[in-house]
Amino acid sequence: MEFFDVVRTRRSVRSYKPDVVPEEVLNRVLEAVRVAPSGSNRQPWRFIIVKDEAVKQRLVPACGGQRWLAEAPVVVVACGKVFDYNRGGYMGEHSMLVDVSIAMTHLILAARNEGLGTCWIGMFDNNEVKKILGIPEGWNVVGLTPLGYPKAGEKAFTEPGPRNKLSEIVSTDRF
Ligand SMILES: Cc1cc2nc3c(=O)[nH]c(=O)nc-3n(C[C@H](O)[C@H](O)[C@H](O)COP(=O)(O)O)c2cc1C
Repeated sequence: MEFFDVVRTRRSVRSYKPDVVPEEVLNRVLEAVRVAPSGSNRQPWRFIIVKDEAVKQRLVPACGGQRWLAEAPVVVVACGKVFDYNRGGYMGEHSMLVDVSIAMTHLILAARNEGLGTCWIGMFDNNEVKKILGIPEGWNVVGLTPLGYPKAGEKAFTEPGPRNKLSEIVSTDRF
């Protein structure tokens, strides 16, 4: 797909077919994660690919009961390593959130390019998800997403919903 078509038609998908995601497709999506940039190239991430039905079902209550999450054949859990400093400046421990979010965005856009739906899940209980997946101390969950073929097929990928105008979000030379 053309890059801008990928960006414009990426939507949050909340209804999935059970169809398996072929390994080669999944690997292409994960390759997009692997090459993502990060502060000082620290790559402070681990992406857990959950396919086990029972584990997916346990994630549902840990994500505020969002049941459709487990419809997808794969749930991706993006984890970040906690650092208490950031060489570059003021963000300190938050720098990991920036890095993992960039890598997750690579995943989401690469998935769209493959005809796969995603939906960033920010409503989750970090401690619960950590317990379910055996995520060690020093790591936190940054976000999750289902990954699978949308029930609505290509129709799921529409133009974006309401967004602010460029003139409202961009300014030149000063705020
Ligand atoms: C950080 C973040 C957290 C989100 N958390 C959830 C969530 O827990 N559940 C959900 O259904 N959608 C969630 N969303 C999806 C947003 O609601 C969605 O991106 C937004 O409404 C714009 O719609 P679109 O993604 O289809 O363009 C989240 C999105 C982001 C970026």
